Amino acid sequence: MRIYQTENYQQMSKKAANIIAAQIISNPESILGLATGSTPIGTYKNLVKKYQDGDIDFKGITSINLDEYVGLSKDDDQSYRYFMNDNLFNHVNIDINNTYVPDGTQKDAELECKKYDEIIKKSGGIDLQLLGIGQNSHIGFNEPDSVFTFGTHCVDLTENTINANARFFDDINKVPKKAYSMGIGNIFSAKKILLVASGENKAQAVYDSFFSAITPNVPASILQLHSDVILVADKDALKIVNDKGLI
Ligand code: GLP
Repeated sequence: MRIYQTENYQQMSKKAANIIAAQIISNPESILGLATGSTPIGTYKNLVKKYQDGDIDFKGITSINLDEYVGLSKDDDQSYRYFMNDNLFNHVNIDINNTYVPDGTQKDAELECKKYDEIIKKSGGIDLQLLGIGQNSHIGFNEPDSVFTFGTHCVDLTENTINANARFFDDINKVPKKAYSMGIGNIFSAKKILLVASGENKAQAVYDSFFSAITPNVPASILQLHSDVILVADKDALKIVNDKGLI
C-alpha cells in the first residue's frame, strides 16, 4: 500500500484528483468506480477544473458508483445520483448513459442488485475505485458484519451511519434506513483502489482499517490484502497512525 499524507483537506483533494487524472490520461476508456460523501467533493472539484483546463477528457469514461439510498429517486437532492450529477457529471463531458448508480426506486432488491452486478461484469471490471470511509470503517455501505459480502446487496444501515449522515438531511427521520451497495467483493475486484480520508473523526477508522487485524467487523480492513491500494489522507486522519509511529 502506498500512503500519501497531506497537510490538509485541500491538498488531499488535489492529490486524489491527480491520481484519477493520471488514470484517465493513461486509459481514456477507464472504468471508474466512484464514491459519494463529503470527502470526495474536493476531489471532484479538482477534476472539474482539470477538465475545464483541457487536461482531461471524460468522453470515453464509464463510471459505476458504489451505492444509493433505497427509496430516493434521482431527482431527490439527497440521492447519490443527484450528488454525482451535481458534483461531477453535469460539469464534464461524460456520456450520462455511461454513468451508473443503483436505482434507489427499484423495490425489487434482488433484481436491482443482480442488475448492478451484471453492469459491473459487462464493463470488464473497475480500473480505479475511489472510496471514502465511514467512522466505523464502512466502505460503500458495507457495514461492520460477521462476514465480507461479495456482490451488490441491500444493506440495513447502522445507527452510527444514520447518525453520521443525518447532517445532510433536515430531519434525522428522513435518513433512509436501507441502501443498495456494491459488496466488498465488487470493491476488492477493482484493479486499483484509491481511498481518501480527512479529519480526526476518521483517524480511528484509518488506524483500524490499515494497521490492525483484518476482520469483517472493520470492513475496509480487507483492503490490506489488495495489491494496489493508495491511501490519500490528511494528517488529522493519520493522527493515531502517526502518534504510534507507524509511518
Ligand atoms: C456514506 C457513503 C460512503 C462514504 C461515507 C463517509 O456512508 N456511503 O461511501 O465513504 O458516507 O462519508 P463522508 O466522506 O461524508 O464522511
